[in-house]
Amino acid sequence: MNASTTTPVLEYCFTARYGKREVLHQVAGVIQAGEIVSLVGLSGSGKSTLALSLMGLLGYRGGIVTGSVRLEGRELTGLSGAEMRKLRGKRIGYVPQSPAAALNAKLRVRTLLEETWKAHATTNASAEDFAALLESVQLPGTPDFLQRRSGELSTGQGQRLLIALAIMHKPALLLADEPTSALDAITQAAILRLFGELNQRLGTAILFISHDLLSVATLSRRVDILHEGRVVESGPPARIFREPAHPFTRELVAALPRNAFPEA
Ligand SMILES: Nc1ncnc2c1ncn2[C@@H]1O[C@H](COP(=O)(O)OP(=O)(O)O)[C@@H](O)[C@H]1O
Ligand SMILES: [Mg+2]
Repeated sequence: MNASTTTPVLEYCFTARYGKREVLHQVAGVIQAGEIVSLVGLSGSGKSTLALSLMGLLGYRGGIVTGSVRLEGRELTGLSGAEMRKLRGKRIGYVPQSPAAALNAKLRVRTLLEETWKAHATTNASAEDFAALLESVQLPGTPDFLQRRSGELSTGQGQRLLIALAIMHKPALLLADEPTSALDAITQAAILRLFGELNQRLGTAILFISHDLLSVATLSRRVDILHEGRVVESGPPARIFREPAHPFTRELVAALPRNAFPEA
């Protein structure tokens, strides 16, 4: 074990605003290497603002971040666009909500893989590299599949492809902003299992953002509850389910179907 194993993969404390409107108020969190943490909040609570802030992308939405975001010990606020681009997709990966919105439907699977590869590599990837990557997210690594256009894939396959693109360069941290909300319940469960497997196998830390407390509970070591731009509660899922401390968390837990609580 060296000293870097004790440096958190992510540590943040910041405020975010759009114009004069502050939507995240001194939100803070820490994720250790290899950990899965979930951030749960209702629609409009500031989840995507938080994800974009961590990726250094809030400026593109017209927002401003004040405070600190440290990735593997390195301060990200104040980095230039070029410096951030070197980290995005390499040390910090991002899985968006829906393949339909994130992928150019006309592009072939192979082209999408090649573009993502070239963003951070100088050598060419082999067909075997791509096949192995696709198989690691339970997609076929066949020449036929590589020739498919992304618009021809099912939503579940498209979501697996987004995950493959996000893990291609083995980032230390994956940010997933409601990555299963476009999927049916069964595909949703399969994708959640895949995140768990990738975490185990690659040691990638994951910040899993969701509006659904129940879906993330089994996956996460810790759940942060975001309410109106503040992290109001944070703890292991079993504790959150049994003894929710904040009134908003109590309401959230009370709204779950009866007998749905995972075994503590
Ligand atoms: N570009 C923007 N300009 C102004 N307000 C915004 C902008 N984007 C989001 N907001 C507001 O910020 C708040 C948080 O939004 P968001 O982070 O997208 O929430 P969530 O992802 O939890 O649904 C909402 O009230 C939303 O209306
Ligand atoms: Mg959102």
